[in-house]
Amino acid sequence: MSQDLAKRKAAEAALKYVVQGEMLGVGTGSTVNHFIDLLAERHFDIQAAVSSSEASTQRLLKHGFKVIELNSAGPLSVYVDGADESNYQLQLIKGGGAALTREKIIAGASKTFVCIADESKLVKTLGKFPLPVEVIPMARSFVARELVKLGGRPVLRENVVTDNGNPIIDVHDLQIAQPLALETAINAIPGVVTVGLFAHRPADRLILGSPDGVREVM
Ligand code: 5RP
Repeated sequence: MSQDLAKRKAAEAALKYVVQGEMLGVGTGSTVNHFIDLLAERHFDIQAAVSSSEASTQRLLKHGFKVIELNSAGPLSVYVDGADESNYQLQLIKGGGAALTREKIIAGASKTFVCIADESKLVKTLGKFPLPVEVIPMARSFVARELVKLGGRPVLRENVVTDNGNPIIDVHDLQIAQPLALETAINAIPGVVTVGLFAHRPADRLILGSPDGVREVM
């Protein structure tokens, strides 16, 4: 319950980055759900949202927001999304909600990526949270063997198919001392669609909520 309150506080603090009348990138997850609900509760007037998942799209539509494709939006000024872990350089692990591919695309297309999370997500070294990797179905076993060579313990996420129709492998037991190099290495495995390591495109702001308040890291 207190973690949920912390998420809501982080989401609330991100509202100051929303530019009324403009398009807004919206991520996925329970923290972002608070953010979407708050946008509606506070009657924010956004031109349209570009959403990173079917789940967020449905929530946005339910509140009466317009949702458009990234292809129709052009560059976005602000993208708000959660994370499973962040280090102090604002490099992230994302994909706990299986939306990593669209999240990485929208983050890449946005000028400012505002990450919202409860304070437990801030870590010195990434990797305690298993690293999600979305893969092309026929490459699943091959990619898993390659991930073992990189020192990880791959586990197929049961009963999950992404919005793009692909499975996810969660890579356990990684201590990610060099996030940039690991992201590059995993991206280079044939069959990998996206790795949920956001090191080459980290967040620009990190808003950490706790039941008592928020603090911002940038
Ligand atoms: C979805 C994500 C989420 O942002 C991440 O899993 C955090 O979720 P939550 O806000 O529920 O803690 O990357 O793919």
